[in-house]
Amino acid sequence: MCGIIGAIANRDITSVLIDGLKRLEYRGYDSAGLAVIDSDGELDLRRSVGRVVALEKICSDIHGHLGIAHTRWATHGRPAENNAHPHTSSHQVAVVHNGIIENHESLRQSQKEMGFPFSSETDTEVIVHQIDHHMQNGADLLCAVQNTVDELNGAYGLGVVSKQDTSRIIAARNGSPLLIGLGEDENFIASDMSALIPVAKQYMVLEDGDIADVTGTTVDIYDRDRKPVQRKVLVSSLSDDETSLDGYAHFMKKEIHEQTRAITETLEGRLGANSVLEIPFGENAKEIFDAAREIKIIACGTSYNAACVARYWFEEFGIRCDVEIASEYRYRKHVVNDGTLFVTISQSGETLDTMAALEMAKGLGYSNTLCICNAPESSLARASDLTIFTHAGREIGVASTKAFTTQLVTLLMLAICLRRRALNLSAEGDKIEHEIVLELRSLPSQIEHALGLEDDIIAMSKHFADRQHTLFLGRGAHYPIAVEGALKLKEISYIHAEAYAAGELKHGPLALVDADMPVVAVAPNNELLGKLKSNLEEVRARGGRLFVFADIDSGIHSDDDTHVLHVAPVNNYIAPIIYTIPLQLLSYHVALLKGTDIDKPRNLAKSVTVE
Ligand code: M6R
Repeated sequence: MCGIIGAIANRDITSVLIDGLKRLEYRGYDSAGLAVIDSDGELDLRRSVGRVVALEKICSDIHGHLGIAHTRWATHGRPAENNAHPHTSSHQVAVVHNGIIENHESLRQSQKEMGFPFSSETDTEVIVHQIDHHMQNGADLLCAVQNTVDELNGAYGLGVVSKQDTSRIIAARNGSPLLIGLGEDENFIASDMSALIPVAKQYMVLEDGDIADVTGTTVDIYDRDRKPVQRKVLVSSLSDDETSLDGYAHFMKKEIHEQTRAITETLEGRLGANSVLEIPFGENAKEIFDAAREIKIIACGTSYNAACVARYWFEEFGIRCDVEIASEYRYRKHVVNDGTLFVTISQSGETLDTMAALEMAKGLGYSNTLCICNAPESSLARASDLTIFTHAGREIGVASTKAFTTQLVTLLMLAICLRRRALNLSAEGDKIEHEIVLELRSLPSQIEHALGLEDDIIAMSKHFADRQHTLFLGRGAHYPIAVEGALKLKEISYIHAEAYAAGELKHGPLALVDADMPVVAVAPNNELLGKLKSNLEEVRARGGRLFVFADIDSGIHSDDDTHVLHVAPVNNYIAPIIYTIPLQLLSYHVALLKGTDIDKPRNLAKSVTVE
């Protein structure tokens, strides 16, 4: 999704901007651009469709001490050079913008009447013309931005420069994350700290309504009421170590294989001899868990699928659990029972719908807010009463893999902590807790074992590469695993994939089954195996081609129409985590055969910071 970087320094900042844009590429984008005030004091604008390297090629002759840059993920207007940011007005002012301006049409109308020419189809262009309009009426750059944001409805993170005042960048935030990176006699703005890894360790996070006046040596921040405010100076822990491919062809493959380490680190310090420890979850964790009698979980995409798996655990442990997609939750009325803990799950911690759902929930009477998140320096982590970090390490591939399995591990630990309260057990737990803790400890080696299926999965993937559609089936907690498997396949291979609870097949989707429709199923050896087998027979009876990841003791074997890959026996609680691995590998290898852009699939973004 769109990314922003801006810099003001005593050195040439073009390479800083280009490097920052490359670091923001993981978010997903379709075009990029920069605007630099050059050595003659002129506003030099360069933009291009496609990758940042294409922009870099047309920027070798541009130098200056002040500039802003952007990666754009199209919302208003197709991916095209004229729609790429920065946008300029009268060659005086340039703006980069993340977010969506909802009243852009009325502003556009009035600006047309004032004689401003429009060169793009974006909602952003009205911002730059409005700032220019206020400057033409005598406002300085800071005042012009202040006046402009007062006239905007919608979400924005803004970076603004003007050739009339080359000593500052103005930054503004409302609903779209923006921070100020602090260097030595140089300062930066960015939509996330990963853009600034080589140039700034210290940073300040702008809050909604803030406007910052940033020079090379000073940062003055004004809040919504235009009163000067201080924002805390934080120290970033991000480093470059996690951003190399380490010999893998794709980040997704690297991240699939990193799951043993990611899970080990997520468990690190959180397990006692026979129990899940509560203190490592945070100072206030005990108090928050004590107050939680039921759970509401909100998330999007893969994180939502993790929540759907966790619902089976919570309810099996006697804790009522409701799960909802953030974009739906935001736009309906809610009845909140006393003692309901509001949980958000997000890899990035920046997903706008999830963040907005959390803000809305704060006024609705939940006992507390808890976030399960992989990004320590994220908006969701900062806004929640308690954050439990999944220590997956940075995830760069757009398709979420290690974030998902570490979310599941974290959710299982959370479920155990609440189970003790629901069942009135001691802190040392009971037989079931001991059993789960043992299984969690051995999870990394079980994951390693599942990764060992890769060669067989490569062979299996050949049956999918020329298909248009696929069905995924699962039952119980493995139904959301099937949903996650289908999501992976569709997002990186562009094959239409749908998941069904296997018992639903006969209520409609069975009509789709024929020899051209591969049907993927996950078949752990649990109490639903018999039911699942009957559902698989329904597919076979219609000439369907089955691809089954089945427990070695399931009694499901390969024949002419059924390809079976056997999975080692696994404990019921952690089985959903293990059965995720072959589905991730399948989607990766199908996409590899299809030659898609696996780490940056078309139309998608890593961090979804718009509605
Ligand atoms: O960062 P989040 O976990 O909040 O992101 C939510 C979804 O956008 C994300 O999981 C998305 O569905 C992934 N691309 C799926 O692989």
